[in-house]
Amino acid sequence: MKATVTLPSNFFKPYVKETKRYMEDEVKKYGARILNMVWQNKDFIRLMGNENQYGPSPKVVEAIKNAAQWVNRYPSPIYVDLIEKIAEYASVKPENILLGAGSLEIMDAIFRAFLDPGDNVILSAPTYKPYVLRIKICGGVPRLIPMRKNENGFSRDMGKILQALDSQTKAIVFLNPNNPTGIPLTKEELEKVLDKPVLIVIDEAYYEFCGKTFAPFVEENENVIVIRTLSKAFALAGLRLGYAIANPSLVDYVSRVQLPFRVTELTAHAALAALNDMEYAKETIKKIVEEREILFSELSKIDGLKPYPSAANFILVKVTHEKYSAEKISSLLLGKRIIVRGFTGAPGLGDGGYIRISVGTREQNDKLISALKSILGGG
Ligand SMILES: Cc1ncc(COP(=O)(O)O)c(C=O)c1O
Repeated sequence: MKATVTLPSNFFKPYVKETKRYMEDEVKKYGARILNMVWQNKDFIRLMGNENQYGPSPKVVEAIKNAAQWVNRYPSPIYVDLIEKIAEYASVKPENILLGAGSLEIMDAIFRAFLDPGDNVILSAPTYKPYVLRIKICGGVPRLIPMRKNENGFSRDMGKILQALDSQTKAIVFLNPNNPTGIPLTKEELEKVLDKPVLIVIDEAYYEFCGKTFAPFVEENENVIVIRTLSKAFALAGLRLGYAIANPSLVDYVSRVQLPFRVTELTAHAALAALNDMEYAKETIKKIVEEREILFSELSKIDGLKPYPSAANFILVKVTHEKYSAEKISSLLLGKRIIVRGFTGAPGLGDGGYIRISVGTREQNDKLISALKSILGGG
């Protein structure tokens, strides 16, 4: 008989055991099979993941087809062409560029490269949840500083962020624009922390929809690292390509914890094709920004919903309806095959029910608005 071994509980890292798997709550609520079915079903209008509904450039699809015959080979471990192309796009030098399998993988590499158990990372809440999970996986402590809120919307509480800094702070994370509130980072906010001896991570996943970047700051500030992605503006979420812009010594240091071959051959070719077809990218970005403004104005007309202005490809909406909660609205929309993302109770959003809606095509947005009107009245 085979001997069975039970690993003692102290064998496991407590801070890993205390975290959750990504989407664990959703899997528990709906079941893995149903979630997967909905995820893959082309009939659903997916306004929950801030994806680009216009899809990639036809030149990207062609490049993937051409590269498919070479997948027996390992990808180039140095990706020189792709790095040079990204550097040109970001107006920096190739040595400022670090590639990742999605910007999430870069964020993970940064925390693994810098955090020791007990270190803390400061973020403005509400924020993008995977940051909080990855900090915890490294034994770090996320210090979530609630955003300030007034009639006009949200703003970062820089006073409290500065107060939260201590000798165990390794990084301050800003999202420019923020997910889910959609607010850009201002130069004044950034300048308040630039001289602190910690990493300043600026996630610019949605930069192309707001047009404002802090990439030039890496030149004179060795502690600044800007993270971007081709998942959003370039519609490559399924292929996973992200990049960071930073001082060459930071690029070198973080890259040491990354796996070789993390960017696949298909991804590298697709990304090059996407960046070589800027006409297509600019056209889709323009459409998304125009649709965002139309969607905002349509949402503002519905009683019981309060949308917040956004510089990204999504809109955060507070549900103030007396009869329908944010959860109820999300589940009624799901019944109509429209998926949005609930944010009720998220850190920094404790004052009521919220949903976040990604900007779709005109047709998708029209369907969403008429579904909302039929649920909430007025249509
Ligand atoms: C702020 C932010 N950063 C990063 C990501 C993930 O990007 P990627 O697909 O490059 O991993 C997202 C995705 O929604 C995001 O909202």
